[in-house]
Amino acid sequence: EKGGYDHFMLKEIFEQPRSIADSMRGRINLENASLQLGGLRDYLDKIAKTDRIVIVACGTSWHAGLVGEYLFEELARVNVEVEYASEFRYRNPIIKEGDIVIAISQSGETADTMAALELAKSKGAIILGVCNVVGSSIARITHAGVYTHAGPEIGVASTKAFTAQVTVLSLIAIATAHKKGTISQDLYRELLFGLEAIPAKVEKILKSADKIKDISKLFTFASNFIFLGRGLNFPVALEGALKLKEISYIHAEGYPAAEMKHGPIALIDEDMPVVFIATKDNSYEKIVSNIQEVKARKGRVIAIVTEGDTLIPKMVDFVIEVPRTNDLLLPLITSIPLQLISYYIAVMRGRNVDQPRNLAKSVTVE
Ligand code: M6R
Repeated sequence: EKGGYDHFMLKEIFEQPRSIADSMRGRINLENASLQLGGLRDYLDKIAKTDRIVIVACGTSWHAGLVGEYLFEELARVNVEVEYASEFRYRNPIIKEGDIVIAISQSGETADTMAALELAKSKGAIILGVCNVVGSSIARITHAGVYTHAGPEIGVASTKAFTAQVTVLSLIAIATAHKKGTISQDLYRELLFGLEAIPAKVEKILKSADKIKDISKLFTFASNFIFLGRGLNFPVALEGALKLKEISYIHAEGYPAAEMKHGPIALIDEDMPVVFIATKDNSYEKIVSNIQEVKARKGRVIAIVTEGDTLIPKMVDFVIEVPRTNDLLLPLITSIPLQLISYYIAVMRGRNVDQPRNLAKSVTVE
């Protein structure tokens, strides 16, 4: 049941310290700084040897795939393509014997993702799954995989499944990099310790839910929203926009912040709320200038910033602080306040948060 929360979605948002920890449990051992992915035992060698990985997914799982792309490329120096399963399956995709295709799916039942895998398998690919539902169709058809242990997700809007997917993709990327020797021992340790510290940091963000609610309240009647981020926070921006659309029915778009000046900046006026994911990472200075561009056009800016940032709070209308972490782990932190913003806005608009109109929890038709 809802365990005292008003909606499953809120319960699931608040479960994330645990669901993220559960997705690492038994896999990371900090005592000897090691990482074991039992599900990939026979395949890690092949993943480490491949020169190309294709990720197929839909919706939120596709956003997790984009995070995976950055991680695999950065850590394991391997070329990654992230495909909408529905597009991939109807092209004549170039897949050769032994290619690695990874499907990401909470339900493990999404029709397009399943069909994309069947196609890849028929061309001789090694197909792997990152699924939440044990024994689901995708989990069964794949050669191997790593389960996300998020527990049942009831709310149609995916929240804890997303962070669990990102956790598992981080583990696979780190394990691959370690095997290949493309990651230093220091970074390897830093990431493992960094991952272990994520649940407590998520907990800390959840403690600021009331503040996030107060800010969200002011945007209840907005008719549009833009979400901007760079690097690993770009997929987080896409996910923030999808969440808001699904449950509040507000039109929202996510963009890489630097793409603004190629078109979307024309939308900015005093009625346009813009959420910037502006943490202190290696694109900080760039995002600061993107914020200036929006403020110069009177956009209303909510910025997700790193604790202790003193510059951005002076430039924007509202700030939400998040704890510091390794840059590569940021999506696990920055996605949390965006989930809460969507949730509170949808509730204040009187929407059916757990079962938004026109949507099903698992899309088993194409
Ligand atoms: O079960 P799956 O992860 O395969 O589902 C994919 C999408 O249908 C799903 O993520 C959808 O976009 C959610 N409603 C997002 O909140």
